[in-house]
Amino acid sequence: MERKQIAAGNWKMNMDYNEGRDLAKAVVSGLQPSDVLVVLGTPYIHLKNINGIIKDVSNIKLAAQNCHQEENGAYTGEVSAAMLKSCGVDFVILGHSERREYFGEDDKLIARKIDIVLRHGMQPIYCCGEKLEVREAGKHEELVGEQVKTALAHLTKEQMAQVVVAYEPVWAIGTGKTATPGQAQQMHKHIRSILREKFGKEVADATSILYGGSVKPGNAREIFAQPDVDGGLIGGAALKASDFLAIADSF
Ligand code: PGA
Repeated sequence: MERKQIAAGNWKMNMDYNEGRDLAKAVVSGLQPSDVLVVLGTPYIHLKNINGIIKDVSNIKLAAQNCHQEENGAYTGEVSAAMLKSCGVDFVILGHSERREYFGEDDKLIARKIDIVLRHGMQPIYCCGEKLEVREAGKHEELVGEQVKTALAHLTKEQMAQVVVAYEPVWAIGTGKTATPGQAQQMHKHIRSILREKFGKEVADATSILYGGSVKPGNAREIFAQPDVDGGLIGGAALKASDFLAIADSF
């Protein structure tokens, strides 16, 4: 099975309602037909509207950036998987390093979020990655391996086949420092080998593993050319349609 090449934008907490609408429209109008799947990861307030903007374009999908782990209830300010699904959401970014760092999320909690997103028929984009001190200590493969196992090992093969993994070294996010293509490839290969151990070759080979961390039009092609890199999760450069489109065109 061929795995999907994906350019996923993570807008984070940027873009008010009108700006978000305009950005989504600019991406739709500039997108070339291709096999690359383009994903817009927007704040909650945009989801329903942008779902309408992208609905006739088969290779653009919609992502939320988080989701609560419970079905519903007294969780003031939170948003449930069922709510996301009802707005036309296809993917949910889970376990982003900013959620881990500022909101105390860990892989046990992220595993529950993955479960509920799958239960509601959406696809998790599971983020993992090490901090600088871990890489400097040479423990990055071990740590990312632990993250992946804690968050994903309980899934069935059928469930895992719905998951996209994003490797995002924390030291490369929003810093302008990108992992070298070789560093990205090495970690992606490692992640795929763990998936192979747990889920078998067929599932591992079919899983899209994205790289995230300062991907730009100038470096995307070289990173995406690595054999185990299937695309990118793009923050800053996803906020400008021309940059994001250039990245989506870098496969
Ligand atoms: P960046 O963010 O592209 O701005 O580094 C990537 C991410 O956090 O997903």
